[in-house]
Amino acid sequence: MIPLDLVPLSPDEAAHEVRVVAAVRAELATAGGWLPFDRYMELVLYAPGLGYYAAGAHKLGAGGDFVTAPELSAVFGRCVASQCAEVLESLDGGEIIEIGAGSGALAEQVLGELASRECLPARYRILETSPDLRQRQQARLAGLPAAAAERVDWLDAVPTSPLHGVVLANEVLDALPVERFRVGPTGIEALGVAWRDGRLAWAARPASAALATAVAAMELALPVGYVSEACLRLGPWLGTITAPLAAGIALILDYGLARRGYYVPARDGGTLACFHRQRRHEDPFVNVGLQDLTAWVDFTRVAEAAVDEGLEIGGFTTQANFLLGTGFEQHLAALRRTLPPECEPLAANAALRLVLPGEMGERFKAIALTRAYAGPLSGFALRDFTATL
Ligand SMILES: C[S@@+](CC[C@H](N)C(=O)[O-])C[C@H]1O[C@@H](n2cnc3c(N)ncnc32)[C@H](O)[C@@H]1O
Repeated sequence: MIPLDLVPLSPDEAAHEVRVVAAVRAELATAGGWLPFDRYMELVLYAPGLGYYAAGAHKLGAGGDFVTAPELSAVFGRCVASQCAEVLESLDGGEIIEIGAGSGALAEQVLGELASRECLPARYRILETSPDLRQRQQARLAGLPAAAAERVDWLDAVPTSPLHGVVLANEVLDALPVERFRVGPTGIEALGVAWRDGRLAWAARPASAALATAVAAMELALPVGYVSEACLRLGPWLGTITAPLAAGIALILDYGLARRGYYVPARDGGTLACFHRQRRHEDPFVNVGLQDLTAWVDFTRVAEAAVDEGLEIGGFTTQANFLLGTGFEQHLAALRRTLPPECEPLAANAALRLVLPGEMGERFKAIALTRAYAGPLSGFALRDFTATL
C-alpha cells in the first residue's frame, strides 16, 4: 500500500515506474530471486534510460525532489570558492574537477566568485554520470562570462594526467549505492531485494564475505536485530576520483557522521532515505526509478579509504564551521548588497539554513583530503574534528 503522504505519479511517471520494476524483476530472475541492496540502488538510480539519475526526472531545486546547499544559497558556492582560491594560490594555480555537479549551481557560484577575485582555475572540469544533468549544466554554465565559460569542460572519466588543484564533490557520496545489513543471531545478514506478494520487498540472506568482513572490521558492539548500512563502494570510488591528484586537496561535503556517532542505538534502522517532491520517506520500493535514494556518509570510512590511497586528512568539520571559516558573513553581506531590500530577508534566511545547527549546519560535514599540500585550509581552521574520526 502506498503511504498516504506520497505525491501521486502522473500516468507517464507510472508507466516509467512499470518499466523500471520490470528491469529489476528481469535481473532478479537471472540472479536467483534476490539482489543485494547496493545492486538494487545502482539499478534504480543509474541504469541507463531508466534510473533516477539517468532518465530525465527533474531532481534538484524547489520544483524537484530535494534542495542541495548551492540550490539554497549562492553563499555556499562563494565559501567553497574561497577555499579553492586559497589552495590554487598556494599551488601557484591549478585546476578544479567537480564530481556530480547537479544543476551546475555550485560550478556557477564557484566560477563567478573566482572570476571576481581574478583567480580562475586553468580549467574547471565536470565529471557527471547523468546525461540530462550534464545538459542542464552545459546550458547553465554557457551563461557565465566568456573567461570563465571557456575553462569548463565535461569529462567521461577521471583524467589520467596529473592534477594540481582541487577535486570537489558536494552531496555525491550520499548517492553511492550502499549495502544494508542486519545483525543476526549467528552472524551478519544482508538485507536485499526480492519479489513477494506482487511487489518488491526486503529479504534477508547471510551476508557476502565482503559485507561480513567490512562490518566485522568496524568492531561495532551492536545488538541482534540492529539494522544499518555500509558503503562498500566508497573506497574504490574515492580511489578513482583522487587518482589523478598530484598536489592539492579533495574537498568533500555531505551529510554524515564520524563512525562513533553513526552506528549507535538511536540510529537502529540506518539512515537510508528516499526523496520525492520534497518529501522524505523510507520505502525504497515505491516510486521506483522516480525518487532519490540516499544514505548518510560514514566519514570514518572516507578517512580510512583516503589513508589507503596515500592521502592525508587535512581537516574534518561541520558545514557551519567550514562556511564560517571561509567567509560566510562577508559573502552574505556582499550578496545582500546586490539584492533589492524586499528580497534581502528571504535570501538571508536561506543562507542561514546552511549554518544553523538544526538545519544543515551540523548534519552536513566537510572533509579535506590532501596530497603534497602544506598550504592553509581556512575551512578547517575554526574547529577541526579529525580526531573524532
Ligand atoms: C544529490 S546530487 C548533488 C548535485 C550537486 N553536487 C549539488 O550540490 O547540488 C548528486 C550528483 O552526483 C551525480 N553522481 C552520482 N553518482 C556519481 C558518480 N559516481 N560519478 C559522478 N557523478 C555522480 C548525480 O548525477 C548528481 O549530479
